[in-house]
Amino acid sequence: MRENIKKLFGKNKIARKVRQAAKWLDGKFYGCAQPPLAICVLKGSVFFFCDLVRAMRVPVQIDFISVSSYGDGKQSSGKPEITRLPSAEISGRDVIIVEDVVDSGLTLAATKSYFEEAGAKSVVCVTLLDKPSRREAPVSADFYCFTAGDEFVVGYGLDFAQKYRDLPYVGALEN
Ligand code: IMP
Ligand code: MG
Repeated sequence: MRENIKKLFGKNKIARKVRQAAKWLDGKFYGCAQPPLAICVLKGSVFFFCDLVRAMRVPVQIDFISVSSYGDGKQSSGKPEITRLPSAEISGRDVIIVEDVVDSGLTLAATKSYFEEAGAKSVVCVTLLDKPSRREAPVSADFYCFTAGDEFVVGYGLDFAQKYRDLPYVGALEN
């Protein structure tokens, strides 16, 4: 079955916001002795991540993590667990967590503590989408591109039951 999807943010709007996020990161890490380590939280942030690191002028290194918490539905299935760890040494590094959505905040709380406990020098989070009204954990992204309300969004990496990640725009599922 194909759900109805209401387009929210198109290609150009996304590209503009990605450039702003990259500029913000460039300002933050300009002149750093060691390149920051940008972490792609698989799979949802993959396209945002690739566009973002390529729009930055400051050199970065990249790595990947996976966090499990969602099944095939729209609700979180409890405590997030990091199921794929980064291969880079984290101790002493400036870490940029690149998220797709900060919703309840439970995933970001878990990933932030992972990097802090692993000895990161600093940890910031850039997210494509922020859903402030749904927060359960006391965390927030340091930079967000868009905000959404209590709606389920798909496209540009975001999925519903693994569908719609390949859409070039971000849209809301209509029910
Ligand atoms: P949180 O732990 O509740 O903040 O959820 C974070 C993760 O849930 C995100 O990284 C997404 O993978 C997923 N998620 C939350 N809301 C949405 C949505 O509207 N569309 C697709 N994925 C979502
Ligand atoms: Mg995610």
